Amino acid sequence: MELKIYNSKKEVAEHFSMYLKELVQSPKEIHIALSGGSTPKIVFDEIASRFGNALDWSKVFFYWGDERCVPPDHEESNYKMTVDHLLSQINIPENNIRRIKGENAPKDEALVYSRLLDEELPRIHDIPKFDLVILGMGDDGHTASIFPHEIQLWDSQNNCEVATHPDSGQKRITITGKVINNADMVAFLVTGGTKSGKVKEIIGKEGNFLMYPASLVKPMSGRLVWFLDTDAAENITPS
Ligand code: 6PG
Repeated sequence: MELKIYNSKKEVAEHFSMYLKELVQSPKEIHIALSGGSTPKIVFDEIASRFGNALDWSKVFFYWGDERCVPPDHEESNYKMTVDHLLSQINIPENNIRRIKGENAPKDEALVYSRLLDEELPRIHDIPKFDLVILGMGDDGHTASIFPHEIQLWDSQNNCEVATHPDSGQKRITITGKVINNADMVAFLVTGGTKSGKVKEIIGKEGNFLMYPASLVKPMSGRLVWFLDTDAAENITPS
């Protein structure tokens, strides 16, 4: 586990965008699972403004780690957020965008997307393998759309599951721990003081950390990088 701590959300976005640039410049196909939330929004803006079409996106394939069960033009759609802040700013083949179809019946789409991952991604341990999974973490310690009240979804044998937001009851499609921990690399983008308590518990393996799905992110590759701002990291003292 590597901790990268920066002074602001903007600096997190700047450094992560440089990290992503290195990956995108790889000569091989790159399969990336994107996250929703406010932190990736700033990261996408940074990537679009700093690199845009200076990068060759033709071998980059975008997927989502989770999606709200809403239409693709809905204000709460992670796909729409990504279009608005990144995809509309770069030249990337339509076929390289593999969105979760939030407009479909949740159970059907969880099956369809599970099958898409099996068909489109390279495999290791007979499980679909992303080159990079980008994750956020909620104030409650959720990640992707696996929430504490449904933490058992993490251990599903399926690539994707239907989840339920604990407050709104909104249905979501999420990839599961099986796929997340099979990724070559996982990047946690976590910013804001409201996360600092959970960050301390999870990184320090203290308190109720095992109740938080974010604490279960342990890629078998060993490559887990936390991109934090000082607010989110205020309670940890990295050795
Ligand atoms: C979602 C995200 C979710 C997000 C966290 C953190 O669909 O809402 O995938 O898991 O990453 O809620 O969000 P922030 O980056 O806004 O703190």
